[in-house]
Amino acid sequence: MTVHRRRFLQGAAGLAAGLALPASAFSAESLNLGRIAAQRGLGFGSAFDREVLTDPAWAALLTEQAKIGAIENSLKFDWLRPNGPEADFGVADQLVDFGLKAGMRLRGTALIWNDWLPDWLKWSSVTDRRKIFDAHIDEVMFRYAGRVTSWDVVNEPFFPMHGREGGYRKGYWFDAIGPGYVADAFRRAAKADPQAELVLNEAFCEQNDELGQSVRARLFDLVVKLKQDGVPLHAVGLQGHLKPHLPQDYGGFADWVALLAEQGVKVKITELDVDDSQLPDDLVERDEVVAETLRYFLSSVLPVIAVEDVVCWKLSDKYSWYANVDAYPKERQARTHLFDAEMRPKRAADAVAEAISASPVR
Ligand code: XIL
Repeated sequence: MTVHRRRFLQGAAGLAAGLALPASAFSAESLNLGRIAAQRGLGFGSAFDREVLTDPAWAALLTEQAKIGAIENSLKFDWLRPNGPEADFGVADQLVDFGLKAGMRLRGTALIWNDWLPDWLKWSSVTDRRKIFDAHIDEVMFRYAGRVTSWDVVNEPFFPMHGREGGYRKGYWFDAIGPGYVADAFRRAAKADPQAELVLNEAFCEQNDELGQSVRARLFDLVVKLKQDGVPLHAVGLQGHLKPHLPQDYGGFADWVALLAEQGVKVKITELDVDDSQLPDDLVERDEVVAETLRYFLSSVLPVIAVEDVVCWKLSDKYSWYANVDAYPKERQARTHLFDAEMRPKRAADAVAEAISASPVR
């Protein structure tokens, strides 16, 4: 039976059961995205955080589907050190244990990010801040060396709207150190854990609007410069928070990704999901746009062989981070991920499975 025929029948069964949504062609048990991706030589995974410690259904879904685990928040500076330089690794340790027991390769997000920093850092002198920067990288990487094997060393270096030199994102690290903070972070990270994979992660590049184009150009130049200067940079992470309400040209994006990879870096899609905040209210229509956006994106970018991993920014709508974004419509049930809030695969899961299955083998 074809996938479409099965989908129609399951959809009809769903309607009869009072579920108005077209079903996935898969049941949760028959779908294994990690395995489908591995058959193409691709890594597949998801972000997760402390909810896995108390929600067995979510933990089970992750364990079944994800071969890569990205710690969503608990390794970030403000989560480790909310009140001062002393870190509390309690939750992060439990999440690392969970991921390793589930057989995942773990990614840490993110060592240095100019966003979401605690207020206390603002009151530190420039000299102290520099010391805290170095000590943070050292302490976190030493602690998880051999367990968290891939790090977003710097997250989101650019945000031209901040009006800073070179289009850099403003924040306490940038203010204290200037644009050189990026190279400094990578050099420090390579010393702290010489085996770790060191990644420069960025947002917006997949958008075909002014912001996306501007960040792409700046990121490209930064990668070229870091490579020329011999900075230990192994891969570029492109987040992939897809926004179907903005101009999309994923073919053009893929051409740019191929050029970027020619600069001597691997590429990862690190935070894949679909912002549905401006899509129709109707769930059937919304699910269809989310699925087709993911299909269009992956089928454009996966032919670029340098793209080695696809990591979703969580898998279930139950933990959609969009619901906590201020601008997100309050009454809306988020449909931003591959599985619904009951951990059932949606059309989006089919689209991702099909796009990955059709991609060239690495
Ligand atoms: C988000 C988390 O998902 C939220 O829970 C948190 O409140 C804020 O950060 N780009 C990134 C991620 O690089 O670290 C962000 O994660 C989402 C946008």
